[in-house]
Amino acid sequence: MLELTKLSKIYDDQSAVTDVSLRIEPGEFVTMLGPSGCGKTTLLRMLAGLVQPSSGSIVLEGRDITLLPPYKRDLNMVFQQYALFPHLTVEDNILFGLRMKKVPAEEQRKRLLQVVELTRLTGLERRKPHQLSGGQQQRVAVARAIVNRPKVLLLDEPLAALDLQLRKNLQHELKQLQKRLGITFIYVTHDQEEAMTLSDRIVVMNGGVCEQVGAPRDIYAHPASLFVASFIGENNTLQEQGRTYAVRPDKVKLVPLRDKPHPEGHRTGMIEDMADTGSLLKLYVRPDGGGPNLLVYRYGDEVQGWRTGQKVAYGWASRDEVVLAR
Ligand SMILES: Nc1ncnc2c1ncn2[C@@H]1O[C@H](COP(=O)(O)OP(=O)(O)O)[C@@H](O)[C@H]1O
Ligand SMILES: [Mg+2]
Repeated sequence: MLELTKLSKIYDDQSAVTDVSLRIEPGEFVTMLGPSGCGKTTLLRMLAGLVQPSSGSIVLEGRDITLLPPYKRDLNMVFQQYALFPHLTVEDNILFGLRMKKVPAEEQRKRLLQVVELTRLTGLERRKPHQLSGGQQQRVAVARAIVNRPKVLLLDEPLAALDLQLRKNLQHELKQLQKRLGITFIYVTHDQEEAMTLSDRIVVMNGGVCEQVGAPRDIYAHPASLFVASFIGENNTLQEQGRTYAVRPDKVKLVPLRDKPHPEGHRTGMIEDMADTGSLLKLYVRPDGGGPNLLVYRYGDEVQGWRTGQKVAYGWASRDEVVLAR
């Protein structure tokens, strides 16, 4: 449905985005994930028509839109800052675009009712933005975008300014909304947990380059690079005999040193530190053989009985070693 081919943006002599190629299916929820400065916003703004690509192309449903102005694209953007008009009511904010496009008044009413209900803003239509909570303002921003019935909705860190609990609620709402509307969502975040929760597919970006594309579970289980292995969830990365590989903290088997039998390929070390997060215990094991500390997770009944300073034997099954290319 949407095809990006070798899309690049160079500012002055600095590359912000380099050769990103991607095919997005109708109704898909795709997330661009990466640290601050990796080019996510630039990529999204190129799709919106707000930044002109230095090279490459964007094709929407068979039509080359690379050079089209923003208002001629069937794409709408929701920004990190809600950018609502402060002097307009919720209703007027939502209808602003339709009025500009001179959509008939009856059609405006109909669509307003629909999106107000979808975004759970019923009863708040006459309020001004400053009379709304952060979460409500963000819903208005989403309502304002979907009222235009775009084929694709572009969302640039729309929840970044909200506190954790509200962010989790709105994540769930956005996902439900996307499924109901069937609109393609292209979402940007630096938060890997948010990306894992929301997405059909994740595009992991680093330094303007696309490092890996895949379903959340795939990317988690089979990171293609050292960057992806350490950016998506917590991981142990090991370099041994010219080989680089990763082992997830929940795959590490751990026993007190005196216990027998020891785990497969066992090594020894000492628990240097522990962190109890409630649902899981994180143990930091200093290997006797030197090298970085190893992170180990224990859940459920297995969180009991560990103490710092304790000597342990540990290991993992060779099938849980994920070999990394770089
Ligand atoms: N208008 C601009 N002029 C020059 N450099 C820019 C401009 N916009 C972004 N950049 C640079 O491009 C890189 C990517 O920025 P951005 O796309 O905003 O990253 P992200 O959204 O992932 O944080 C950064 O190094 C940033 O400084
Ligand atoms: Mg950004």
